Amino acid sequence: MSFFPIARPRRLRKTGALRAMVRETEIQTNDFIYPLFVVPGKNVKAPVKSMPGVFQLSIENIVKEAASALAVGVPAVILFGIPSHKDERGSEGYARGGIVQKAVAALKKDLPELVVITDVCLCEYTSHGHCGLIRSGDVDNDATLGLLARMAVSHAEAGADMVAPSDMMDGRVAAIRDALGRKGFDTLPIMSYAAKYASGFYGPFRDAAESAPKFGDRRGYQMDPPNWREAIREVALDIEEGADIVMVKPALAYLDVLSRVRDEFDVPVAAYNVSGEFSMIKAAAQNGWIDHDRVMMEVLTAIKRAGADLILTYFAKDAARLLR
Ligand code: PBG
Repeated sequence: MSFFPIARPRRLRKTGALRAMVRETEIQTNDFIYPLFVVPGKNVKAPVKSMPGVFQLSIENIVKEAASALAVGVPAVILFGIPSHKDERGSEGYARGGIVQKAVAALKKDLPELVVITDVCLCEYTSHGHCGLIRSGDVDNDATLGLLARMAVSHAEAGADMVAPSDMMDGRVAAIRDALGRKGFDTLPIMSYAAKYASGFYGPFRDAAESAPKFGDRRGYQMDPPNWREAIREVALDIEEGADIVMVKPALAYLDVLSRVRDEFDVPVAAYNVSGEFSMIKAAAQNGWIDHDRVMMEVLTAIKRAGADLILTYFAKDAARLLR
């Protein structure tokens, strides 16, 4: 190492061209997965109050929104369904004519090149709002697995390109992998929410998906925020069970976890830039406290720099537009 004044790091920051030449991390539109909320009905475009610019959309509007994202280079969407009817067992989640199944079919018909991913979880479909079956006041892990597998198969049958289990039951990737295999879908990728934390940052999503638990919370199945070694174990298990892409969620408060997962494993890693992370930026920007586009790009770049290959983000369309 030579020292000042021989060494001057500022030399390479002098112009935009120089900075671009030595840039280490660059986000691309191909990195984005755009979350969408699908509801029953016709011509529904219901704003989600806590997520400015995000809407619950009926199927024809989902197709329009996905088409406009695709047009600016966003290759993939992930679908969350809000059913017309919820019950104890989340039946509409795995019904053949369920809302997500219909949306998948419509998207694949009109936009065959779009990568359609489905979120596999019961919480949007259960009357109690938990991610599994309830037995004596608690979520019954093993009894839930069959339903998650049924849901994943029903999404595959509808034409989904990838399924993404977000429930955090133990063994669910194995159960889904096995069920898919039996139905001839052994080439369907699974993106598992492998290290998903019990986070306060999901607040706005639960408005959007109408999925807040009616009693208790999700700490009995989602991960405890202080833990990172446990995340490594969770990711290793999901890969052994047949996951093709592993996710860390949320992103920003867990960039250390993301970076460690990146170092430890070779599979593609996704990070979920969750609802609370999105809404904080929107709220501060609406107040004039920060520059929306600049902070959005800074955050997305940070997630990529920490090691994400893929970013699930409500900013996907806006960021892709800026990148163009
Ligand atoms: C469903 C699910 C949640 C999110 C994605 N899938 C909510 C939760 O676990 O309560 C959160 C996404 C976000 O906040 O943007 N289990």
